[in-house]
Amino acid sequence: MNAKFYVTTPIYYVNDAPHIGHAYTTILADVLARFHRALGDDTFFLTGVDEHGQKVEQAAQKRGLTPQAHCDDLAPRFTSLWKKLGISNDDFIRTTQDRHKRIVQMILQKVYESGDIYQKEYEGLYSVAEERFITEKEAESGQFREVKTIKEKNYFFKMSKYQDRLIKYIEDHPNFLRPDHRRNEMLGFLRQPLTDLCISRPKARLSWGIEIPFDREYVTYVWFDALINYISAIGYGTDDAKFKRFWPGVHLIGKDILTTHSIYWTTMLFSLDLPLPETIFAHGWWLMGESKMSKSLGNVVRPLDLIEQHGVDAVRYYLMSEMILGQDANFTPENFIKRYNSDLANDFGNLLNRVSGLIGKNHGNVIPEAGTPTEAEAAIMAQGQILGKNVQALIADYKVDAAINEVMNLIRAVNKYMEMQAPWKLAKTDLPAAGRVLYTATEALRLAAVLLKAVMPDKAMIVLEILGAHDSGLTWGELKSGVTLPSFPPLFPRIELEKKT
Ligand code: ME8
Ligand code: MG
Repeated sequence: MNAKFYVTTPIYYVNDAPHIGHAYTTILADVLARFHRALGDDTFFLTGVDEHGQKVEQAAQKRGLTPQAHCDDLAPRFTSLWKKLGISNDDFIRTTQDRHKRIVQMILQKVYESGDIYQKEYEGLYSVAEERFITEKEAESGQFREVKTIKEKNYFFKMSKYQDRLIKYIEDHPNFLRPDHRRNEMLGFLRQPLTDLCISRPKARLSWGIEIPFDREYVTYVWFDALINYISAIGYGTDDAKFKRFWPGVHLIGKDILTTHSIYWTTMLFSLDLPLPETIFAHGWWLMGESKMSKSLGNVVRPLDLIEQHGVDAVRYYLMSEMILGQDANFTPENFIKRYNSDLANDFGNLLNRVSGLIGKNHGNVIPEAGTPTEAEAAIMAQGQILGKNVQALIADYKVDAAINEVMNLIRAVNKYMEMQAPWKLAKTDLPAAGRVLYTATEALRLAAVLLKAVMPDKAMIVLEILGAHDSGLTWGELKSGVTLPSFPPLFPRIELEKKT
């Protein structure tokens, strides 16, 4: 019996088209989903868009569209980008869909009836940019834009009631909030008394939202609505079997939305008497220079441009290998080209060209016999034999960048091995020995391709098809001798810097 794996991305605001930051989280989820599917896990991968609230209403106003027309126009930009990026999501939720709105209202009613929602008049600081009431302390931090004082009657969710329970839960479950520094950040935050969460907006101020079922003068706060997508999409309240099959899941998020996930969402789940997510993993930010790449700052890299220039898999590879999961990373075109040229063009691409070139020249274009391994082969084989397990362990621990590096380490070792063994020279004196070296190098390439399938689905598949090994697995030696290699164009042509305009 295999495990199950339910993975989600944030649902992105449709206030603008997606940029590399959004692509990053979505590709990360895709890579994890593909790895888990390959392991035979019962996998469900959810992404979607967040369509209510002030940001979206304002974006629609600016374009002179109704909010719904604006959303209907923007949502396909996400789905079509995900398609281009090879994203294998099982569902795509839009918060304006009926299936979601109904569940949000059902939950509001339920939490209200349980006594966890109450009404009161409140005066406090409100960040228009963040769309929520903030504390004095938060306002002083200077991290919140467009802060003003608002006084109004609103509905509140009794978040404070669950503070102690949440602290205990975080302390008892070391893998719940990850990485560790984010867990500590939240435990630190929870040393202050939690305030209750304002979960309504008077329609007079904001009408673009889900109506509160017990008071039609209000819509619900966009975060109370949005977080529920993680369960409305998998059948909470409608399809019990499906819900039980997948919940709880793994939420991948950026560190910008850590509080809403680890405090708002968890206390909502406590109130609903549902299990908390298995893991909330908050990754770092893609920066442009010193600042976060963000829609509101306008310093964004459009994924489509990069895809058109360098191909989908190169973009996926760059994003996954360049960011150490949990830390910030700097996006620069120079970094992109450097990483592409060193890893993909030089290490991987050249090895493939070299090996297939030599097999063509000296071995009749047919994958040679493995032969009897010498010490040199044994070292490569040993590295290859444990690679699958090592990579799987790193993936299970959310170390995607390290997992990729582990694969590339084998490739780099094989490049050195090729230099040492020089099968082009060996071929003149001992053809079977040259064959043995080339078999070993080709088998390493095959294994690397199997493991890189989750990261670069298209390119890895091309390699496997070239080697006649498209359905092969992680066992060393699965490469078949005697396969005739087809001719193929270079997989990762080098990017010449001076050609750039
Ligand atoms: O916050 N670097 O949506 P959003 C890395 N609708 N990741 C980035 C990034 C960057 N510079 N910029 C954005 C929302 N992201 C809410 C979420 S969930 C119930 C509701 C990614 O459009 C990252 O995953 O502002 C971040 O958390 C998310 O996009 C925020 O997207
Ligand atoms: Mg944002």
